[in-house]
Amino acid sequence: MSVVKGRLSADLTAPGVAELVRHLNRDGALCIELVDNDGNVVTCAGGCAGSCSKQCATMRSRLASEVLNTHGPCCGSCEGGGRIEALPVMHSAAQFGAVLVCEVPAGLRVPAPGNGIQTTTGIDPLLNSLSLLVAQSSFYELEVRSLTSDLSLRYEELALMYEIGERIPIRAETASVIDYVVESFKDLVNYDAACWVPAGSKEGLNGGEGEWVRWIDSRGEARSLDRDVRRVSRAIAERVASGGSVLTVNTMAADADTQQLSETFSAASGYPVAVEEEYYGTLVLFKFQGDFKSGEAMLVSAVMRRSGTVIRNANLYKELDEFFLNTIKALVRIIEGKDAYTRGHSERVSTFSMLLGNMLNLPLSEKEALSRSSLLHDIGKIKVPEEILKKPGALTAEEFAVIKEHPGFGADMLSPIGQLSHCLPDIRHHHERIDGKGYPDGLKGDEIPQRARIIAVADTFDALTSDRCYRPKFGVEKALQIIEEAAGTQLYPEAAAALVSNKDAFLEHVEAKSVTAEESDRN
Ligand SMILES: [Fe+2]
Ligand SMILES: [Fe+2]
Repeated sequence: MSVVKGRLSADLTAPGVAELVRHLNRDGALCIELVDNDGNVVTCAGGCAGSCSKQCATMRSRLASEVLNTHGPCCGSCEGGGRIEALPVMHSAAQFGAVLVCEVPAGLRVPAPGNGIQTTTGIDPLLNSLSLLVAQSSFYELEVRSLTSDLSLRYEELALMYEIGERIPIRAETASVIDYVVESFKDLVNYDAACWVPAGSKEGLNGGEGEWVRWIDSRGEARSLDRDVRRVSRAIAERVASGGSVLTVNTMAADADTQQLSETFSAASGYPVAVEEEYYGTLVLFKFQGDFKSGEAMLVSAVMRRSGTVIRNANLYKELDEFFLNTIKALVRIIEGKDAYTRGHSERVSTFSMLLGNMLNLPLSEKEALSRSSLLHDIGKIKVPEEILKKPGALTAEEFAVIKEHPGFGADMLSPIGQLSHCLPDIRHHHERIDGKGYPDGLKGDEIPQRARIIAVADTFDALTSDRCYRPKFGVEKALQIIEEAAGTQLYPEAAAALVSNKDAFLEHVEAKSVTAEESDRN
């Protein structure tokens, strides 16, 4: 017979049992006892409560054990000659324990022969009613607890779903999304180790790219098992990926793929992270003790499904961003194609700007904007006639006036593109000078956007180290000397100092092909 084990509560049963004994126990010789599924006394009331002889207690214990194992009634005799009846406390295939009633007939206080256990069908109707009542109330208490626990898990699940959607950055890498999620449910799901197996992870000493093992417990000896955890996790991941659903192994010793870790862990469970045809990987959780409950598995499964959506959105965003950036690069190459001397200038200025952005510790969002602005800084040159751009030698004042229009024109032509709105000030002001003698607006110092100041340093360095139609390139040392001399007047001193003191980082990007800082105004 398959029964579910429930818990008997002393709080729930003690008052009723005591009242019943008071009502029935006219001569003080009736005792009612409730034991839980482990045979421990939960409630005991009546004449011999707490003062039973050893023999009587032994008999009760034997009867209780019999009832708990057979789920059927039985009876026996107690030391005082009384009869002990025992009955399981059951309701809807859930067993909560056993109820025992010991009644010594009035006047009989001597041991009776034959105190063995007998099966019986002639149970006192009162005992039957008591058993049923206790079982029903215990069952409903169990239901309420289970519902409360489920409700609590569903609430936490919803809160986690919201958090995952809100807190994970749109461009997060897959492994860091999973890492964040696993951390976020550690107080709700009782796991001791987690392993992320990305799709396509191969056997290896340190696992596949992006694969990781995280331990909740700080046991040092357990961490030395990382390699085994990876191996077992990959085996589970393979089964999860082929089945497409959650896999729970609550008896690891009996499972060929997990038994090698069964002395360390009691249970393992694997969860797919996928969206439609895209399979991103499998999360495998391990427990030192106990099983993975269905409520826990449901919560993790739902959260991992949500993570799959977050990962897919992040990948789509990255693809879109890359497409946008490549489109910008193609546009810039078309414009630079007008002048063989400036070919590759914008990409090098972007590379130098990013190096400076890193050296000045710009936040990620600033660096992303800097990357686009620096690539597009000279886009306005599309309006400058080729004969001016390619003119060898000095420009006339009129020609230079045309050149000076390119920053403003570049910003104006890109203004309809909303995604570039934050880049427009950088493009417009990349020829401003710290001393206010630049163009188009004559801004000074901090009035010039920081990204535009950085681009100006990168732009000047590339101009100085590249051949132009009007002069050959300078040597790197001479270029650095010019940059250093222009710091604080023409150029942003912090960026100029970063470039000069980290020159080796820039050298490999310098064009293999000479100007004063003023002459770089044409770039
Ligand atoms: Fe420019
Ligand atoms: Fe430039």
